[in-house]
Amino acid sequence: MVSEKRDLIIVVGSANVDYIMRVPHLPQQGETVAGSGFSQTFGGKGANQAVATARCGGRVALVCSLGGDTLSNRMRSGFEQDGIQTDFLIQAPNTYSGTALILIDPNGNNCIAADPGANYLLTPQQVDRIESLLPRTAVLLVQYEIPPETVARALELATSYGVRTIWNFAPAHPFPYMEKFSQTDILIVNETEAGFLAGMNPPESDMETVEALYRMHELGAETIILTRGVNGSSVLMEGKVAHIEAFPVKAVDSTAAGDVYCGTLAVSLSEGKPLLEAIRFASAASAISVTRWGAQPSAPYRHEIEDFLASRLR
Ligand code: RIB
Repeated sequence: MVSEKRDLIIVVGSANVDYIMRVPHLPQQGETVAGSGFSQTFGGKGANQAVATARCGGRVALVCSLGGDTLSNRMRSGFEQDGIQTDFLIQAPNTYSGTALILIDPNGNNCIAADPGANYLLTPQQVDRIESLLPRTAVLLVQYEIPPETVARALELATSYGVRTIWNFAPAHPFPYMEKFSQTDILIVNETEAGFLAGMNPPESDMETVEALYRMHELGAETIILTRGVNGSSVLMEGKVAHIEAFPVKAVDSTAAGDVYCGTLAVSLSEGKPLLEAIRFASAASAISVTRWGAQPSAPYRHEIEDFLASRLR
């Protein structure tokens, strides 16, 4: 029997309408700050990862749930323009798409509040519809802006077909099916999410990072990547920790930097690259994204990532 070529990347996750405002500093409780620029773009961790995957040259199918309004229609057209397969996208007529309010300070740091809207209508049954694609799938990528049972089903189904699973546990909140960590090949978290999963404060030093990685490993994931912003990435694989430096850039907006990282990492791995090489590629892509505004508008194209990497070798 000839086995099928596995070159597809499936993203199961959220799609949001993002409302972004630049502010002089992130407000404290009870404080009002004057904005200095506003825009509406498209985001959502799942959709951002699918867009990053597609622009980087990956063949990608997005499983997500949108509302039935005009903005949702525009979001869908955007996915199609990026070459994303949308056959498994649902649109619920009587609801609104997920919505995120994002504030960004002059250093590119953000704070985000996201209302799930239609994202919470993505059920495990919707995930079951992708089963026929799984023999051709290299990587399944999932986050945590959709119901926990849907995340659990995606990991379970992908694992049953031998598909490599990447779980970006973002944003951090309680997950009721802890056994699913053992169906995760690569767990990706930032410092806040690492602190949550490891049961400690968000790690700051290298020593705390290593401790968080080992604590999270006990949950069952095979490989764990902790993204640390300007401090790069730390990875625990095959019992050893490695640190990969970030590419220094002038950041204007870190929104979706983690999503670009996850999507481009998935592409690189689906092309057979070793993990450390894939991490360097993903770090370059996310470095480019933080020099640009917005979530999906910031995702770089393949040639931009390659040019960036080549310029760093000179
Ligand atoms: O990761 C960035 C994303 O988080 C934004 O696009 C926003 O929609 C929230 O989901």
